[in-house]
Amino acid sequence: MKIRRAVIPVAGKGTRFLPATKQVPKEMIPIINLPMIHYVVEEAILSGIEQVIFVTSSGKNAIEDYFDRNFDLEDFLIKNGKIKELEMIQQIGKMVEVTSVRQKEQLGLGHAVLCAKDIVGNEPFAVILGDEIVRGPNPVIKQLINVSQQYNNANVIGVMEVDPLETYKYGVVKGEFVDKNNKTMRMTDMVEKPLPAVAPSNLATPGRYIFRPEIFDALKVIPKGVGGEYQLTDAINLLARESEVYAHVFEGQRFDTGNIEGYLNATVEFALMNKDSEEMMRKIIKEKVEKYKIK
Ligand code: G1P
Repeated sequence: MKIRRAVIPVAGKGTRFLPATKQVPKEMIPIINLPMIHYVVEEAILSGIEQVIFVTSSGKNAIEDYFDRNFDLEDFLIKNGKIKELEMIQQIGKMVEVTSVRQKEQLGLGHAVLCAKDIVGNEPFAVILGDEIVRGPNPVIKQLINVSQQYNNANVIGVMEVDPLETYKYGVVKGEFVDKNNKTMRMTDMVEKPLPAVAPSNLATPGRYIFRPEIFDALKVIPKGVGGEYQLTDAINLLARESEVYAHVFEGQRFDTGNIEGYLNATVEFALMNKDSEEMMRKIIKEKVEKYKIK
């Protein structure tokens, strides 16, 4: 079945980026000249998603406005003959159909996804977390959709190998590989932010999921979990008891842009990956290495 909708929770306060996030949603902080959310929505579109559902909170209007048309700005650019810029912003306004729903209380990721239930309706959908950007020849959501189709439209979680000492930052999966390449496993258990000593593996999700609508039934009945929040991981676990959940080790390079170090890393690397900025960044790095005697 075609996956048409992606839920992107964007209600978080972005405390790791204060004070910038006092007034600007963290999703709007740019990496080079594109806000972080642009890269995430682009992944959705390249995966065939037709409608993006943002789960928002107060102070997040800039995200919806970004994906809308801005006729004042378009007029200004026309009058000033800035045709290239005009085309660029018009294209963003037409990228994808955007809908939003408010998460009135910050009760956790599981609660945020449940807020999108009525808009998603009774069909499978994707969930994409915007804190992490994954880049590669094939968008991750597309890879997961392919796996889902291969296994009779099952639920699929995108996972990657992480440093075994850092399992406490993620939802970590347990299961048995079902393919000969050891890329896809039938998941039997998922633990939210386990300490290394009790982690079931070092395969963790950076927030890429394909769900059947039954996830909403699970989300409605889970109690509060880790951190006193309704955890998506707990609902996935419940789902795994009643239907099939697969975890797929996706291909692609992941950038954890939810913290300053990951953000700096992505900024430098994206600039090196982009043909318009590659030369500039190479020159800057070279100068800095010499000036600060970086070894
Ligand atoms: C959330 C999820 C976690 C996942 C992580 C990826 O945690 O609960 O399972 O691994 O996103 O970024 P958060 O980072 O929001 O605490």
